[in-house]
Amino acid sequence: MCGIVGYIGEKQAQPILVAGLKRLEYRGYDSAGIATMSPKAKVTLLRAKGKVSGLDEKVTTHTTTDTVGVGHTRWATHGEPSKRNAHPHHVGDIYLVHNGIIENYQDLKAMLARHDYDFKSDTDTEVLTALIDYLARDADNLLAAVSGALKMVVGAYGIAVLSVANPNEIIIARKGSPLIVGVGGGEVFIASDASALVGHTDQVIYMHDGEIGVCTTSGVQLYDIDAHSVEAKVEKLEIDLQSIQKKGFDHFLLKEIYDQPDSLRSTLRGRVNLDTSSVKLGGLNMTNDELREVRNIMVVGCGTAYYAGMMAGYFVEQFTDDVTIRAEIASELRYRSFSVPEHTVALIVSQSGETADTLACLQELQRRGVKCLGVVNAVGSTIAREVDGGVYVHVGAEISVASTKAFTSQVAAITMFGMMIAQAKGVSPRELNGYVRELDLLPGEIESVLEKTADEVRDIAATYANYEHALYVGRDTLYPIALEGALKLKEVSYIQAEGHAAGELKHGPIALIDDRFFVVCYLQDNWLYEKTQSNLVEMNARGAHAIVITDTDKRVPAETVIRVKTKLQVLTPLVFNVVSQLLAYYIATARGNDVDQPRNLAKSVTVE
Ligand code: AGP
Repeated sequence: MCGIVGYIGEKQAQPILVAGLKRLEYRGYDSAGIATMSPKAKVTLLRAKGKVSGLDEKVTTHTTTDTVGVGHTRWATHGEPSKRNAHPHHVGDIYLVHNGIIENYQDLKAMLARHDYDFKSDTDTEVLTALIDYLARDADNLLAAVSGALKMVVGAYGIAVLSVANPNEIIIARKGSPLIVGVGGGEVFIASDASALVGHTDQVIYMHDGEIGVCTTSGVQLYDIDAHSVEAKVEKLEIDLQSIQKKGFDHFLLKEIYDQPDSLRSTLRGRVNLDTSSVKLGGLNMTNDELREVRNIMVVGCGTAYYAGMMAGYFVEQFTDDVTIRAEIASELRYRSFSVPEHTVALIVSQSGETADTLACLQELQRRGVKCLGVVNAVGSTIAREVDGGVYVHVGAEISVASTKAFTSQVAAITMFGMMIAQAKGVSPRELNGYVRELDLLPGEIESVLEKTADEVRDIAATYANYEHALYVGRDTLYPIALEGALKLKEVSYIQAEGHAAGELKHGPIALIDDRFFVVCYLQDNWLYEKTQSNLVEMNARGAHAIVITDTDKRVPAETVIRVKTKLQVLTPLVFNVVSQLLAYYIATARGNDVDQPRNLAKSVTVE
């Protein structure tokens, strides 16, 4: 949820730490801080409420030549956004930054208070800092103190620790929260995710749960929780500077909406074969026999990832007779007493690969012996490393908090997985040909809808930007699109928006329709056209301000109609979704919102 960074080397640490925090700011922007230490162990601690830019101003008036330091950008869990609760926290000799939640911090706090520790903030992190300081009094070294403390805490953490008693090292550790170390050339870079390391080194170590690292200018030595040394695996960093820049767009959100034709081509590359009307996913680690045996697919994810699973489920049902597919909300599934039918495969869907609830479901399903395949974007992320096989969607870095290009590619990847099962079960290429052809057409169709409708959508958005309530409705494959469309609008415009199955309207939601609401109705010219059209007429009868997104040339009774010309049929909803992504973007920018870093949200939800 938060972003942590660290540096030890020969270079001036402050600019490296601040630049790293700016790259990680989409993980949380409630406050930011850095602590750097001189060779003589003089620490300069700078913290500011709000965005990293506020901290940057402080650095200009408190510049040091220190070459060791840690930093943090916060998504508040314990204690309101404020300077008092900002990291790094300092207790005694210890300075610490933390991403995660210490669940038993109240008990530890009470224990430490009995040893005359008092606390300046409301955070769980300050308690961990004090615990390490307390144990360091009798420990042989900082590593032993950190190891001792981490064996006493319950919860999730990614931490980086400085001590004035050890000015030539930084101690790091992870459990449940991501941590990556960049190495090479007499310096070590520490970060919550790879984007902060790009441009510094492409040699990285992905820390595993329960590992502790001692970072010095000669590199990083890893240990297990009992401080026994363990092997470090150095890997090559996959992402480049290009993919984490705005390429001339005003916002990452718009850039990533426009990335979709190419990011989808990367997802499909080498996996779709038009000649044989077939698909092939390389990394599943499943034989054809195993695929043939599948009877049930559980798709697990949160937010947009969950909606992608729901969406693809509608497609997969259409070309497999004896397979059930069901999308599950991870935060619900992890605490439900659910049963797993025989021949079940679980698809674990996550853009970041670090979402705590999704990860917990993966671990529970694996504990029950269920084969778990990842549908992940972030290479080297925890979920990607823990699944039994899977598909990388390869959409490049997705930086805007609101997920767009990952959704489109997640739907394509899950659909291709379903087609792999159908192929193994003997479904003929002729039956799958329609899907193969449309997957191949989809990038071009998205390109054309961006070209042809973006300006129109921008103008329409201005008309609806002052509403505070919206209803999104669709039938069949357009129902998950209604949910996803409403989520996008909520996330970036802060307009209260609900997605509903159009057929459900008369069972309650239609009561909402009045002048304060606008309605987005997805109207596809297929076998459900009349059904949805009647829902639209019913809403119009109650005075709905309707925006209809449709591919029909017929007259459509609505206040606003956005017509999408497309060669697609079954995959048309994915093109309609791009229109509602644009609508959310332009309404939010018309309202003057920071669309890349919407309030109260973070890109990767690494706590429950
Ligand atoms: C989507 O725009 C949101 N950022 C959020 O719902 C997101 O989809 C969810 O947190 C899951 O994230 P993941 O794909 O990284 O696991």
